[in-house]
Formats: sequence, structure tokens, C-alpha cells
Amino acid sequence: MEPLIRELTDADRDANHRLGADAFGYAADRQPSALPPVGGAVLGAFVGDELTAKIRARDDRIHLPGNRTMEMFGVEGVAVHPEARGGGLLSPLFRAGFDRARRLGQPISILFPTAAGIYRRFGYELVGSLEQREIAVSALAKVKAPQGISLRRATNDDLGELRRLYAAWAAERLGPLTRVRPSAPILSGDYLASPASVTLAIDTTGEIVGSVRWTRGTGYDPATSIIEVEDLIGRTSDATRALWRFLGTFDSVSGRVNVELPSGDESLTALPAEPAPAVKEHRYMLALVDIPAALAARRGLPGLTAQLPFGVTGGFAEDVDGHYVLEVSGDELRCSRGSSGVGPTFHARGLAALYGGAQRCAGLRAGGLLDGPADHDALWDALFNVPAQVRDYF
Ligand SMILES: CC(C)(COP(=O)(O)OP(=O)(O)OC[C@H]1O[C@@H](n2cnc3c(N)ncnc32)[C@H](O)[C@@H]1OP(=O)(O)O)[C@@H](O)C(=O)NCCC(=O)NCCS
Repeated sequence: MEPLIRELTDADRDANHRLGADAFGYAADRQPSALPPVGGAVLGAFVGDELTAKIRARDDRIHLPGNRTMEMFGVEGVAVHPEARGGGLLSPLFRAGFDRARRLGQPISILFPTAAGIYRRFGYELVGSLEQREIAVSALAKVKAPQGISLRRATNDDLGELRRLYAAWAAERLGPLTRVRPSAPILSGDYLASPASVTLAIDTTGEIVGSVRWTRGTGYDPATSIIEVEDLIGRTSDATRALWRFLGTFDSVSGRVNVELPSGDESLTALPAEPAPAVKEHRYMLALVDIPAALAARRGLPGLTAQLPFGVTGGFAEDVDGHYVLEVSGDELRCSRGSSGVGPTFHARGLAALYGGAQRCAGLRAGGLLDGPADHDALWDALFNVPAQVRDYF
């Protein structure tokens, strides 16, 4: 029997909670959440009258290089009733999710998978990870203190400045959430609420040029006391070093900071020693839902004019497969449907990996995700050579 797919309403609250609890092992005191969720929807698959599978759509927005932003279909809370697994219920749910994303003008989708294999057939590919590292506070104490940076604790009055700092920092990056959508109002009062603290780095002109959010662990025995660090942002190398050095001042009372940053985050290069390897990671995947809109949102290359015909195959979202032309006109990119089969053919997952800065054309070819003429490979590489940096786990 074909499942019925529909958006859940508050009448489905308990059934949604039971499905989530079976999948994710909720704590016994967790209360069912109201539906629909703020800034999104939960799509459910009903077999008969039973809610049997669901995905949660999170309507979000991300930053792109060149001070651009773009709507994004975030996916979370994917669950199939334990006794119904293996029955293919995710396919109609993702079809409905991609249709909704197109309707809402969300050209790409991002999710944090528990296993990448679940999502590859829907066109998602791994593009990065949010990594947790354990760094000895004694190593941070060795960071040289820069001149001209002062520090102070942030208060609620600084929220506007914190948002401006984050947006300025994110303006040249690919993937940071804008943090202001109803689905993710991260830079709100909770960001500063106890037990977390936020320390600001201020330059000689009085401008806030960095911030770090940290949670002091209990006790003062360096052997057991740990500081959790979630969000280190430095707009200048002096600000970054000042914030690392600040964490290093806890040397006598804390042994370790646990710091969570996306793979390739530049702030780690400010450390004098090679950073410890990641001990935990949340990997994330990207899929293209609307190829012309997704490509047009990216920045071109100053001085370059080019026409790059290409094809896409193996996609799952409606209308992804087909022929296209990418036009580069300096800083601007335009992408439209093309008619011929000239140019290379990307597998949808391959184009997602390239878009997310995780693969270059040579790697895609070796992995069977790109075929055909290679004369434009260097241009494709140059256009999309920006790593994805998502900082907020969902
Ligand atoms: C993951 C989960 C949603 C998959 O449900 P399902 O009913 O097996 O999904 P479907 O039948 O639609 O799809 C199964 C496909 O996913 C693949 N898959 C499922 N679990 C997988 C895993 N852990 N690793 C790799 N691939 C997996 C299967 O191989 C199958 O692919 P195939 O058809 O090519 O053989 C379900 O097992 C579940 O609820 N797990 C617990 C919660 C969870 O991990 N959710 C994901 C959060 S990101």
C-alpha cells in the first residue's frame, strides 16, 4: 500500500514523539514538541492510520562567499518505525521534502547523517564535518599575546554587535547558517545565558573583532576540569590569537578545552603547535535541489568570461537531471537549462561534492562521479574551491 504523505499537525504530537523516541532514545522526561515546529514542518508517512516514518524540514538560510546568502532545506529527525524499516518509506518522504523545498525557493539541502549511506541515493554527498578537539590548556598558554586587543565579557546589550560580527565573519564563507531564521535564532538571549559565557575581543578603535563562547567546567583540578568551547570567531589573526590566549589563562585550574569547529577552520592555524586530531565529528552532507538557482548564488571569478555546458544524471529531486549551461561573467554566474549533450556529465552527488568544496574534478572522475570532456575541469575547480563550514549541528 502506498503511504500517505502529509505535514504533521499538533494532533500528531504524541505519535511524532513516540517515533522520535524509538529512533533517538529520548530521555524519559522529554516532553512532546508542538507541531508544526517553528520555522519548518515535519513530513509524515502514514501506513493506514499509523504514523510510520517522518523527516523534519528546517527552513534555514546560509552564507555564501561574496556576501551572499541563500535559502536552505535543512533535514533532521529522520526516523522510520523500527518494525517498518527497510520498506522504502524514506523515498516518498524525501520526494515530498524536495518538492516543498522547491516551492519555498530553497536550492540546496544540508543534513547531518547518522550514516551517509542512507542519503546518497537522494543525491546527498559528504562535504565536511563539525569536529571536536581536545586541546591542552597549557598549549594555549603558549600563544603569544597580540598587542592592541582588549577583552571583555559580552552582555545582552552586545547581541546586535555579535550578530554583525558573525555576519561579517561569515560573508566570505560557504555554509554558515545565518543564525537569524525562526528555525535557528542562535544569536539570541540564549547564546549568552548561563552556564555559557561569551568573551569579546576589541581592537584599539573599539571595534569588536572576535568572540568566543565557553562554558567553564566544575572544579579547579587541571586533571579533571574541562572548558567547553563552541564558537571561536576571529576577524583578524590578532583577535583569534587573543581569544586562544585568553583560554590559555585557565592553565592553572583547567587541563583541557574541548573545542568544536568545522573541518579546515582557520582559527586552528593560529595555534603554535599542530592541533590535536578530532576525537568526535558530526559529518554533514549537501544535495542540490534546484541547480540553476544554486549555481547562480555562487560568486564567479573576476576577469573571467566563459560558457560551460554540462549535464547532470543520477539525481533524485525532481528536475535535477538534464542539460545545463553555466555562464561566467566576472563575479556573476548564471545557469540555465541547455539542450545538447556537450560538456561533462556530473553525477548529482558529484556536483554536490564539488559545490561543497569537498572534491575536485579529478577526484570526481576517479570516483565515477564525473564523465566526459575534461577541458573545463580547471575552471570548475577554480569556481567552487571553497570548503563548506557549517558551525551549528542540527
Ligand atoms: C535510518 C532509517 C531512517 C532508515 O530507514 P529504512 O526504513 O531502512 O529506510 P528505507 O527503507 O527508505 O531505505 C533504506 C536504504 O537506506 C540504506 N540504509 C539504511 N540504514 C543504513 C545505514 N545505517 N547505513 C547505510 N545505509 C543504510 C539501506 O541500505 C537502504 O538502501 P537500499 O535500498 O539501496 O538497500 C531507520 O533505520 C531509522 O529510523 N534509524 C534510526 C534513526 C536514524 O538513524 N535516523 C537517521 C538520522 S540522520
